[in-house]
Amino acid sequence: MTIGICADHAGFPLKEELVAYLRKKGYGVRDFGTFSTDSMDYPDVAHPLAEAVLAGEVGCGIALCGTGNGMAMSLNHHAGIRAGLAWNKAIAELVKAHNNANVLVMPARFISPAMARLIVRTWLGTAFEGGRHQRRIDKIEPAR
Ligand code: RB5
Repeated sequence: MTIGICADHAGFPLKEELVAYLRKKGYGVRDFGTFSTDSMDYPDVAHPLAEAVLAGEVGCGIALCGTGNGMAMSLNHHAGIRAGLAWNKAIAELVKAHNNANVLVMPARFISPAMARLIVRTWLGTAFEGGRHQRRIDKIEPAR
């Protein structure tokens, strides 16, 4: 599976670590930037990642910014994207098992690289439970 990844300047150092970690684990990685710690605007990389996930160009996505909130807000503007914020192992598990997040968002300024790797490992290794959770997901996007 190829995983899309993006970060703003606050998430850039952690993104570099995760790209290396994921490649070492055998995943394909498509890096949407940013590529330095120069200040930039998180929507500029969040939107291309969301579009690639929706187009099936990548199997899922990982996004990083300082708090995770800017990335989550930008990504969740796209119908079909379920970007979920996780900062520990239990939430990483639940954001897949219950919310079937297709983009994992992490707060780069508030977690260690070791915690980020544990979150990624857990999210990738957890299955969606379906059932009542599928019903709830089906209600996320309001009927037009
Ligand atoms: C950048 O300073 C910071 O605002 C950004 O990384 C993120 O936390 C926004 O949600």
